[in-house]
Amino acid sequence: MQADGKPIGMVVGSFTSVSLDPPLVAFFPGRSSSSWPKIEATGRFCVNVLAEHQEPLCRALASKAEEKFAGFDYRFSNGGLPILDGVVAWIDCDLHAVHEAGDHYIVLGLVHSLDLEQPNKPLLFCRGGYGQFAPHSDVAKD
Ligand SMILES: Cc1cc2nc3c(=O)[nH]c(=O)nc-3n(C[C@H](O)[C@H](O)[C@H](O)COP(=O)(O)O)c2cc1C
Repeated sequence: MQADGKPIGMVVGSFTSVSLDPPLVAFFPGRSSSSWPKIEATGRFCVNVLAEHQEPLCRALASKAEEKFAGFDYRFSNGGLPILDGVVAWIDCDLHAVHEAGDHYIVLGLVHSLDLEQPNKPLLFCRGGYGQFAPHSDVAKD
């Protein structure tokens, strides 16, 4: 969230867990991203894991639109960051470190709260298209 109350967001496929103690996660924003410097300036971010039905939301957040969140509902985490309706899970983080890595950055986040939100499966991205887990590969449905 920016100081003016406007949400900032970008889609990352590069999200990954890093450390359990302390709890660290990472993602890799590109140097050409206009959203990343705004997120960096706030010192915090909330990872939203998109569900398989959220392709329109994903396309909106991956766009260069001014109002990427228009038409999508969200509430606030205890840390005051957006948790979008219908996501699988969310992870609230403080910005821990930023490292240069070629034309991207390696961003580490220190996790301070998280929760599962919906028993949905995540949205997948492969070869330029969106999809979902096939039932035979879904070993974690319970
Ligand atoms: C599936 C998917 C994965 C993406 N992963 C990344 C990523 O890991 N890092 C990144 O910088 N951009 C990634 N992008 C692109 C950004 O989401 C998008 O270009 C950017 O948010 C829009 O530009 P902006 O940062 O200037 O708002 C990805 C896009 C999609 C659709």
